[in-house]
Amino acid sequence: MVTLRPFTLDDVPALQRIVSGRTTRFTHGYDMTAEEAAATVRRFIDHDLDDPRTHWNRGIERDGDLIGLVKARLRADRAAALSYLLREDTWGNGYATDAVRQFIPLVFADGVQRMEAKHHPDNAASGRVLVKAGFVPTGVTPAQQVGGRTLPPHPLYELRASVLSPRRAPVHARGTPVARRE
Ligand SMILES: CC(C)(COP(=O)(O)OP(=O)(O)OC[C@H]1O[C@@H](n2cnc3c(N)ncnc32)[C@H](O)[C@@H]1OP(=O)(O)O)[C@@H](O)C(=O)NCCC(=O)NCCS
Repeated sequence: MVTLRPFTLDDVPALQRIVSGRTTRFTHGYDMTAEEAAATVRRFIDHDLDDPRTHWNRGIERDGDLIGLVKARLRADRAAALSYLLREDTWGNGYATDAVRQFIPLVFADGVQRMEAKHHPDNAASGRVLVKAGFVPTGVTPAQQVGGRTLPPHPLYELRASVLSPRRAPVHARGTPVARRE
């Protein structure tokens, strides 16, 4: 069992350790520097002050140890894009699935109607996490050119709030509807 919590400035070294090695293979592609980790933690803390909320960031903690992060970013039409990372030495214990399952209600409670996620086609473990957390496949992204590289089509998934709680009216963070990003 893991717990989710907001980030604090003390988390910089732990975040840098998380975003390193094989964990970056399908994401950043390189180890995070201490400066990048500090800037990321500061950004996460700032996001928590935004009203209405457009980002959700939580540290994943196990026995007092920060082992990963799970986050979502608001997109158009009250949809939020989900992503997650776990420190390499903690993989394969069900922690990512546990964290995503706990995270989903936090995002939907703020009025988001749909969560979406994608993963690299070679990253089958990430697809399993999504399916186990209730996401359903919806297709693939088109191949993309990023920084001179061609990214292959990525499998896409979604989870609708109405599937989890069909009769629930949207609830808004601090009484304010989530911002719309068009
Ligand atoms: C993807 C990631 C978050 C998974 O974390 P985790 O805690 O190991 O995930 P869980 O243990 O909850 O579940 C992993 C599932 O994938 C399966 N799996 C692991 N490696 C696999 C592989 N190579 N092929 C197929 N399935 C695999 C596991 O068996 C498990 O499924 P099961 O419970 O049905 O057996 C972790 O590997 C990670 O941080 N990777 C690097 C960052 C990343 O890729 N993030 C996602 C970006 S989209």
